[in-house]
Amino acid sequence: MVTSDYTHIWDCCCDHGLLGSALLSRLAAPNIHFVDIVPELTNKLENKLQRFYPDSPSKWKMHCLDVAALPIEQYEGRSLVIIAGVGGDLITQFVNAIHQSHSATNIDFMLCPVHHQFTLRQQLIQLDFSLKNEVLVEENQRFYEILLVSSPTDKGDKHSKISPVGELIWQANTAEQSKITVNYLNKTLNHFQRMQLGNNADIQHIIDAYRSVSI
Ligand SMILES: C[S@@+](CC[C@H](N)C(=O)[O-])C[C@H]1O[C@@H](n2cnc3c(N)ncnc32)[C@H](O)[C@@H]1O
Repeated sequence: MVTSDYTHIWDCCCDHGLLGSALLSRLAAPNIHFVDIVPELTNKLENKLQRFYPDSPSKWKMHCLDVAALPIEQYEGRSLVIIAGVGGDLITQFVNAIHQSHSATNIDFMLCPVHHQFTLRQQLIQLDFSLKNEVLVEENQRFYEILLVSSPTDKGDKHSKISPVGELIWQANTAEQSKITVNYLNKTLNHFQRMQLGNNADIQHIIDAYRSVSI
């Protein structure tokens, strides 16, 4: 899903840096940025990158900072911000903060939240982001929604709307993918039904939204 039209790709919350390194290996963009807030991790990763990518045609840079303070404005050209493997509630905060400080810049975000997908989608809809692509993957019996979205532009481009529960993710082309979508829908519905029973939360609208998904 990472196309070649970006000058900068930001692997945010990069941890061990596996994702950014894969992008660096395949020269996915002229500049790959690694961002994490823990100095021990960034120091270790920087040493590793120096060892393995000393003369890479794609440049790389290590940033030890809070993703909410991403310095996109200091770098010219189009940016793709990737945030994967952290909670959807935290990703919601990061996207809000980045969008607020760069509201005039069109930025693409690739987001892979752990839980809280509905909350994240609600926020993206509220911010008037548009959908470029979304997929559902299963790995080690865990399900991941991956959303490629774009912050609003004033150019009047045609936008695809983001659905609160997803749309493309439910469209399967193979028997295997079809099984994944059915299992994920059941798991998601069970989760919200348990939650409603457990703490009397008024989440009927979420349950109804997932019930209206047709596979
Ligand atoms: C579970 S790892 C994610 C790993 C990787 N992105 C992946 O998908 O495999 C979470 C990482 O997020 C980092 N992190 C948490 N809060 C952060 C913040 N506010 N800014 C930057 N990094 C943060 C942590 O230090 C940790 O390395």
